[in-house]
Order: sequence, then structure tokens, then C-alpha cells
Amino acid sequence: MMKVTIVKDSVEGSQKATELVLKAVKNGAKVLGLATGSTPEGLYKNLVNSDVDFTKMVSVNLDEYVGLAPENDQSYHYFMAKHLFDAKPFSKSYVPNGLAKDAATEVARYNKIIADNPIDLQILGLGRNGHIGFNEPGSPFDGQTRKVALTESTIEANSRNFAHETDVPKYAYSMGIGSIMKSHHIILMAWGKEKADAVKAMIEGPVTEDCPASILQKKHNVTIIIDQAAAAKL
Ligand code: GLP
Repeated sequence: MMKVTIVKDSVEGSQKATELVLKAVKNGAKVLGLATGSTPEGLYKNLVNSDVDFTKMVSVNLDEYVGLAPENDQSYHYFMAKHLFDAKPFSKSYVPNGLAKDAATEVARYNKIIADNPIDLQILGLGRNGHIGFNEPGSPFDGQTRKVALTESTIEANSRNFAHETDVPKYAYSMGIGSIMKSHHIILMAWGKEKADAVKAMIEGPVTEDCPASILQKKHNVTIIIDQAAAAKL
């Protein structure tokens, strides 16, 4: 069942998410599934400022752009180091390798990592078109890690972080929806009016591959934390 929590703003929402993560760690979670994007930045900031210790835990990230090196400041490797890992290291942190020579080999490698490290708690953001990770509309609900083509809407939305829209990679490696759904507990956060349509489709719409996040309606243990602006169309 979806537990939907509506908060005033992202500060309050990040605080709620932080409490849930700290509780999971206290209760013995071994593997955290992590997301990038502006949405979880508040959560990561709170974790950095807390006394949590991840050094005996493993993290597994959702996705990475194809073609970007870990040192590239637009890569998700770089994002995670900057916002969390440099201050709060894990025993091991996995992120897909954007520079992998062979996509099939990289996909198999990442699927084995996920199989070997079952995710206790997965953090998710939400794309404006309802995507989770980089699982764009039309992605199979039972999918595993794969190389995906980004939609125009996502390229446009993510171009705000790049110097030019043409610099935004067109492909990414993403954990599949099937793998995400296997996580024991999921926390999805969404802030701002740009997410209101996707939030409505996710919570009130039909469960359809047209809105990848709508599959979360089928998950027992999922907490949705949204601010008032993102909840405006419910
Ligand atoms: C990217 C990421 C997603 C993220 C989404 C929303 O496409 N691959 O994991 O949820 O953007 O980003 P933001 O949180 O910046 O709105």
C-alpha cells in the first residue's frame, strides 16, 4: 500500500525521509538504494550532518549517464561523491559505469550486484513524465538493468545542469523497474509544481507503463513524501 505524506515544503519532507532512513539503519538495514537529482539533496545534506555511520553498509545507485566519466561533474558518480559519499562513505558504493566498453557486460555486472545485495531501502525521485531511475514511460514493469534512451522531456529537464542541451547524454544505464520493486521498502520524494501531473498519475491514475511510477501502487511497503505544490492536483 502507498503511504502518502503531504508536507509543507522540501525541507520538512527531507526531514521526514531522513528520519525513515536513520530508523532503517538502526533496525539493521545493510543495503541502501540511492537516487540522484535535486530531490534527494536535502536528505543527503541531513545525513551528512547526522552521526549516521554507513561504513558497514553497501549502497547501490539507480543509474548513470552513458559516456560520462566518474570525474565529470555532470556524472552521477560525481554527484554522489559530492553530496554524500565523500562525507559518509559506505563499505562499498555501486554506480553503473558510464564508460563501460560493452553495454551487455555492464548490464550483467550491475544485475549481479543487485542480486548479491538485496536492497533494504530504496530512495526514489520522480521524473516530470513519471519516470523512476531512468525508466522512461513504456519501460517494462518487470525490467532489469539496461541501457535506455532518454526522452526529449527528460533531456530538456536535465539540461538545466549542463552548459548546453546538446551536452546532455542521450543514453543511460538504469536499474529496471522489476529490480526497484524488489526493494524491501521504497521512499519516493517529489517537490514542486512541475511534478504535480506525475504525482497525480502515480497515485490516482491507472497502473500503466505509460507512467512508470504508477507501479508503486502495487507495492506493499512504499512511502510517498510530497510537498503541497506537488500534491496540488490530487
Ligand atoms: C533524473 C534521474 C531520476 C530523478 C529525476 C528527477 O532523470 N535519473 O532518478 O528522479 O531526474 O530529477 P530532480 O530530482 O532533479 O527533479
